[in-house]
Amino acid sequence: MPGVSFDRAAEYYDATRGYAPGSAEGIRDAIVAYTGLGNDARMLELGVGTGRIALPFIRAGYNFTGIDLSQAMMDRLLAQLAPDPARARYRFELRQGDVSALPFADAAFDLVLSVHVVHLVDDWQAMLREAHRVLRPGGALVLGHDSAPGDGRPIAGEQVPEAIQVRDRWLRLREELGFARPRGRSNLWGSDQQISAFLGSLGAHVEEVALAPFERPPLTPREMRERLSQRMYSADWALSDEQHADMLGRLDAWFTQHVVAPDSAAASKGQFRALVARWS
Ligand SMILES: C[S@@+](CC[C@H](N)C(=O)[O-])C[C@H]1O[C@@H](n2cnc3c(N)ncnc32)[C@H](O)[C@@H]1O
Repeated sequence: MPGVSFDRAAEYYDATRGYAPGSAEGIRDAIVAYTGLGNDARMLELGVGTGRIALPFIRAGYNFTGIDLSQAMMDRLLAQLAPDPARARYRFELRQGDVSALPFADAAFDLVLSVHVVHLVDDWQAMLREAHRVLRPGGALVLGHDSAPGDGRPIAGEQVPEAIQVRDRWLRLREELGFARPRGRSNLWGSDQQISAFLGSLGAHVEEVALAPFERPPLTPREMRERLSQRMYSADWALSDEQHADMLGRLDAWFTQHVVAPDSAAASKGQFRALVARWS
């Protein structure tokens, strides 16, 4: 497998990673404004998944192609469009395949977009070379990610919902116990320097930008604990059963002592950030 297929996550992905209403549309508008693309721009999303990012583009009528290893994830995207009365007018295509060997012609797209994928791909340099190959001269590559408390960056000193503190405690436990990240990959999650440097070596001009705020739906600490116990985040898929049980036992001890309102739900907020690479 050239990456991490999300087949196993297809059923719950949107419930656990989705934005609150309006956020995905704000991200779409910010990408369009930042890259200056018109309505007829040809767009490609690498690792399109369930369409969390893609659906607002498709519904707004953009010419949109998505590729993913997981047909089950893309089936969720299709299922969300199925009841849409305007579906016949949408211009989109989905392909099952590997982002590090794209089945598209050179210079076929004006925009290549990828969100939360680079860190999952074994040969991420090949993915970026392929993105460059299929972009027309002057086109833009947007590598986006949600930057929010509990997604890996430290939360010390911040006022964040208790559910997010639970996730943060989980991530700290992983570090303290020295459990490896999935498949020994270098940690590309939000690590823009390594990716920027590689894009620079391909001749790109790279900028790092905060494109749009987003919000996630309300969540209780107990619901977050349940997600972690069910290994709903891909970073936990490579843990052995023993490691996972060890972390869960320690989390539960901390939870009992520290969580004040286990069933109180709160929304969380973050920024959608991106590396934007252009080649002249
Ligand atoms: C975390 S999900 C992100 C989905 C979507 N971009 C989003 O932001 O919601 C990662 C997606 O990348 C796909 N993926 C991982 N490695 C891949 C590869 N080498 N080629 C194509 N897709 C890949 C997974 O199947 C999954 O659907």
